[in-house]
Amino acid sequence: MKGLILSGGKGTRLYPLTYTRAKQLIPVANKPVLFRVIEAIRDANITEIGIVIGDTGPEIRETVGDGLQFGVQITYIEQDAPLGLAHAVKISEDFLGDDRFVMFLGDNVIQGGISSLIADFAHHPEWNSQIVLTAVEQPEQYGVAELNGEGRIARLIEKPKVPPSNLALVGIYMFDAHIFEAVHQIEPSFRGELEITDAIQWLIEHGYSVYPHVHTGWWIDTGRPHEMLTANSLVLEELTPCVEGTIDTDSEVDSRVTVEAGAEIINSVVRGPAIIGRNTRIINSYVGPFSSIYNDVVIENSEIERSIVLEHSAIRNIPARIQDSLIGRYAQVDINDVRPTAIKMHLGDYSRLGLL
Ligand code: DAU
Repeated sequence: MKGLILSGGKGTRLYPLTYTRAKQLIPVANKPVLFRVIEAIRDANITEIGIVIGDTGPEIRETVGDGLQFGVQITYIEQDAPLGLAHAVKISEDFLGDDRFVMFLGDNVIQGGISSLIADFAHHPEWNSQIVLTAVEQPEQYGVAELNGEGRIARLIEKPKVPPSNLALVGIYMFDAHIFEAVHQIEPSFRGELEITDAIQWLIEHGYSVYPHVHTGWWIDTGRPHEMLTANSLVLEELTPCVEGTIDTDSEVDSRVTVEAGAEIINSVVRGPAIIGRNTRIINSYVGPFSSIYNDVVIENSEIERSIVLEHSAIRNIPARIQDSLIGRYAQVDINDVRPTAIKMHLGDYSRLGLL
């Protein structure tokens, strides 16, 4: 089997962070979501992986490389424009050939990996496709499946106004080469994309077998800021803690905290689950549960909780606790002590600031 990861698209819902960075490279518990996807596929013993890339392709190529760091072999497939998930499959035909494959959306995080799913599909060579579903509260935001009385899929609809069930399509799909017949036949949807849901519906209508797998653990599509924070909390809760950096004797760091190499905790309190990245310094501060502070960050005389801070940022002397926040790279959050005393900001487009 081969793996196909979709890492194109624009990431508009995560602006301003995604003006300067591919959304799939934003870290959750200090590891880019895309790395987690590659590792999940590798852990299912699939080593030939294609990654579909768009405008942010150069950054993805540079960060992920040829796959050697993960023990896999990566082929990049360029998509000129985000014309849909089925379009991404269409342009990957040369890479995939006649092999069965798993397609995984590069911005999804799923509990428990995909090894058992892949084994299930491998044990059923007569299955043409298997798709992963999960019960969600707002099915209208996703592709939705309707099952028939025998537990097979009867119908799939992309972002329906009136959902026929609460079973959403998780961004993990398994196919054999018949999917290429489907992606060549379907037409673009109302949003101008070749929808993978339409391609799977085409398989069903033409007598191919599509089996569902209902996932019962957690699953997060990290498209929006609050979803990034939720994914971060869930992954942190499952992280095995490890301390490689230094903690001085005036600090109090609980056992569910990972302190990466070169990090320093000085006269501070850190409550887990949390992770402090490489060469980051926490000085006279409080870092609360569900926080991921990435590499080369400084937090001084401040308090932060349930937040993600990306690399090379600095937070200093903030009198109120920062909470539920997503802070990008090279951000400076500080008290302004130069007259006139006023709130001074250099915010990027689409930034959001919640003042007290
Ligand atoms: O997350 C699950 C949902 O993903 C499913 O329930 C939907 O059925 C499916 O259509 C998809 O919906 P989204 O609207 O969330 O897809 P999005 O545009 O966010 O794209 C998902 C990933 O695929 C993302 O990493 C970008 C990448 N992508 C997307 C498009 C449209 C590509 O690589 N190429 C593309 O043309």
